[in-house]
Amino acid sequence: MTPSLNQLMADYSVYYQKLRTYHWTVKGPMFFQLHAKFEEMYLAAAVQVDELAERVVGIGDQPLRSLGEVLEMARLSEEKGSPSAQEMVQTLGSDLTRLIGWLRESSAQAGESDPLTANMLEEMADAEEKAAWMLQAYLG
Ligand SMILES: [Fe+2]
Repeated sequence: MTPSLNQLMADYSVYYQKLRTYHWTVKGPMFFQLHAKFEEMYLAAAVQVDELAERVVGIGDQPLRSLGEVLEMARLSEEKGSPSAQEMVQTLGSDLTRLIGWLRESSAQAGESDPLTANMLEEMADAEEKAAWMLQAYLG
């Protein structure tokens, strides 16, 4: 079964935008660390969005084109509030946990019928597990 790479791309796009917003608006004693960390994370997320979109094209489908389509498909929700630094890290941690679950699930769906996609998603999940662990460590 072919997993919905467009749906993963939509989720990653929401996650990416959330990281950018957090990068711009984080405040407090951890500003310097978090401002830099969120940038590192949104740059990584942009690469994942690109990988997913190019794989969509690679298997002969159409990638999502508009922000409207992205929001319609995404399971993660946008940040609309003004969270504290601590809340930002918590939200990112829970978004990542969900992303990792979907990546592993989609990897299993791609399975042996599409090993290239399966491996790509597995590698993404591994990278995100490391990011999730770092956020967890930050929260103590
Ligand atoms: Fe910046």
